[in-house]
Amino acid sequence: MNNNRFTVPQEELEKQNEYSALAAELLCSLYPAEKPKAYVHTYGCQGNVSDGERLQGLLRQMGYDFVDSVEEADLVLYNTCAIREHAEDRVFGNVGALKPIKKTKPNMLIALCGCMMQQQAIAEKIKNSYSFVDLVFGTHVLHKLPEFIYKRLSTGKRVIDITESDGVIAEGLPVKRDGTFKAWIPIMYGCNNFCSYCIVPYVRGRERSRDFEDILSEVREVVSLGYKEITLLGQNVNSYNKDLQQDKQFPALLKAISEIEGDFIIRFMTSHPRDCTKELLDVMASSNKIAKHLHLPFQSGNDRVLKEMNRHYDREKYLSLINYAYSVMPELSITSDVIVGFPGETYEEFKDTLSLIERVKYTSLFTFIFSPRPGTKAYAMPDPVSREEKGKWFKELTDLQESIAGRRTASMKGKTYRVLIEEKAKGEGMLSGRTEGNVIIEFSGDENLIGSFRNVKVTNPRTWIVYGELEK
Ligand code: SAH
Ligand code: SF4
Ligand code: F3S
Repeated sequence: MNNNRFTVPQEELEKQNEYSALAAELLCSLYPAEKPKAYVHTYGCQGNVSDGERLQGLLRQMGYDFVDSVEEADLVLYNTCAIREHAEDRVFGNVGALKPIKKTKPNMLIALCGCMMQQQAIAEKIKNSYSFVDLVFGTHVLHKLPEFIYKRLSTGKRVIDITESDGVIAEGLPVKRDGTFKAWIPIMYGCNNFCSYCIVPYVRGRERSRDFEDILSEVREVVSLGYKEITLLGQNVNSYNKDLQQDKQFPALLKAISEIEGDFIIRFMTSHPRDCTKELLDVMASSNKIAKHLHLPFQSGNDRVLKEMNRHYDREKYLSLINYAYSVMPELSITSDVIVGFPGETYEEFKDTLSLIERVKYTSLFTFIFSPRPGTKAYAMPDPVSREEKGKWFKELTDLQESIAGRRTASMKGKTYRVLIEEKAKGEGMLSGRTEGNVIIEFSGDENLIGSFRNVKVTNPRTWIVYGELEK
């Protein structure tokens, strides 16, 4: 696929740099004593978090500093998610709570962007009922933040831009990363799968892959800055450069990244079972740098439901991938996403989901009750099972997963794992990190170790957290 049609032209990026300088000048005169303060909060998936890091990069370029509370902020930016109704409700609640704050600070700017804003009906609602919101923009114009800020500051008028588009790739935007040793690197954007329950393809546009070399340079850059964990992001990383020759597809990219020198670990998400290949699993198995962790969402264990979901694989294909993965990586840790109560799902069909979970023995699961998303195919499907009933199924599923997770972590006792130490944990002198398989492990140690790899022996495994001892 030719991605040139998605690339934001250099002239446009230069124009935004000019707006950025103009905004910086204006902000200097508006805030002569100290830098203006921004509060940025991102909801949703890591892809959105990565966008948030670019939005922060642009804000920093304009002269903003960052604060942790809305009360201190001159600009509040919410980068929103539309995946489930609950996610949207939280945003509306948090935006509503800004109204009284803005009354006492009339110069405060409020900006909303991200997936929720890319929906016409939501943008209309904000426009009409939330007049105190200053900027509203969708997912395809993120790189125009300098222009939006400048226009709002210089004209006093609201700025609303939810341009419909197949999507863009904007290379070279400044990034202010949230972490100092964990980096998110998008490799592709958008999605073409149109799973019948999912809003993503509507709010994120068509699937498009970043250039192979651009990704490699970004990885080299973060590794040289000392980052220890690189997570490659995409809604379906296995279809990266799907239409190009094999030596430019995802297994080749992963291999090329694993050959970059340095002490770091590579993760990736999300893999779609339809496009996950043995070749990918072989590449994972072949490199010590690639975490032995596979996030492979199955959504349902029943073939009829999978078909209605438009997932393009069946239970057998999914299980054969899992069998192959365990055969080449016996220590592999597998996690997944699952939806309970898809429209029309019966209890018998739901039991197929339970039996699949029992077969695969996941390390952990992200579990969701179906949430109808306007505009998707499943929104209009008859959905006779009550919310209360779905709640009972959900509990049955989470109880099962809890017992599997408990059995899995119990088997870690006495073994030693290489751990990336992430932060201080609760309890005097305690640290927390993750194993390659993404299991949280806590142990006592010096906080200077945060951001480094160490071997930790498991002494006391619990269901969701295992406790251990640092090896000398
Ligand atoms: N691209 C990834 C998933 C991204 S969305 C994939 O295909 O696996 C993350 C998860 O949210 C999905 O895997 C799904 O389990 C869940 N999800 C998406 N839409 C949903 C909806 N309408 N209701 C409930 N869960 C949903
Ligand atoms: Fe949504 Fe399916 Fe695309 Fe994942 S693959 S983002 S679930 S449409
Ligand atoms: Fe949410 Fe958009 Fe990600 S809908 S899950 S933030 S792609």
